[in-house]
Amino acid sequence: MKRRQERRRTSKKQSLGLKVMLLIAAAAIAGLVIWIGSNDWDIKKTLEPTGTSNSDKDLPEVSLGAEDKKTEPSLESGEADEQNPSPSEVNPEKSGEPSKDDQPFDGGYVEGQKLPKEPTYVKNILIANKKYPLPETFAPGESKEARAAFEEMAAEAKLSSFNLTAFSTYRSYDYQVTLYNRYADRDGVEAADRYSARPGYSEHQTGLAFDIGEVNHEKHWASSSFGSTEAGKWLLANAHRYGFILRYPNHKEQITGYMHEAWHYRYVGKPLAEEIFKKNITLEEYLGVD
Ligand code: DAL
Ligand code: ZN
Repeated sequence: MKRRQERRRTSKKQSLGLKVMLLIAAAAIAGLVIWIGSNDWDIKKTLEPTGTSNSDKDLPEVSLGAEDKKTEPSLESGEADEQNPSPSEVNPEKSGEPSKDDQPFDGGYVEGQKLPKEPTYVKNILIANKKYPLPETFAPGESKEARAAFEEMAAEAKLSSFNLTAFSTYRSYDYQVTLYNRYADRDGVEAADRYSARPGYSEHQTGLAFDIGEVNHEKHWASSSFGSTEAGKWLLANAHRYGFILRYPNHKEQITGYMHEAWHYRYVGKPLAEEIFKKNITLEEYLGVD
């Protein structure tokens, strides 16, 4: 009788143990399924050490050096970012001994300079650069004349199948504050100063600067790669006929204050654009303010 009771107790214990084991196994399988599921059912990703994926996806690519790409998050709608070109992109074709033009630029700002009360016109041309800033209150909006010239140019470009768009034109002082601070936070002041103007110093605040790219080719917006595209080459060869000049050409950083920006054009009107294009000079050289 006793033995039968003992046997019953033993078999009860065994079945309890089995149930506990089954429960643990079920929980382990459920955990595994949830873990793999949370990694998009990607076994490889699941096995990666945590913290290695998606860690820097939130930052725009540095080639964004781009002024204000439409792909930039949390900025004014309709703006793309001066697509922050990376300093390493400055002279991609650099080789051998650096020439004078290839020397790192030392900044270009006048220390302690305050923003003026009036904008500066030289030879009747509005200038905005690191030496000639604009008043904080200067807010003309996008130039109608420049916009009309751009639309005319875009219509001709379309005949060659280039669908041009101006992804950043007029920028307010306040917006430039947002942009510049973001780049300075991301890349440091020295690097940011080579591709982004400090507030009050941006030509975009004049309403005459147009950052140009191709519709549906956002990856080239505010990127040095735009200069190698057929649309970028077309623009370089034809913009002057519509009154635009490439404002920051390659190897002119010592003069303009900024690294090459294949996308940034400045409206100066047809006669002047023709002259600057033919002489292959910068606006600073033309105005004698370099
Ligand atoms: N990217 C040009 C220099 C600007 O910020 O105005
Ligand atoms: Zn620009």
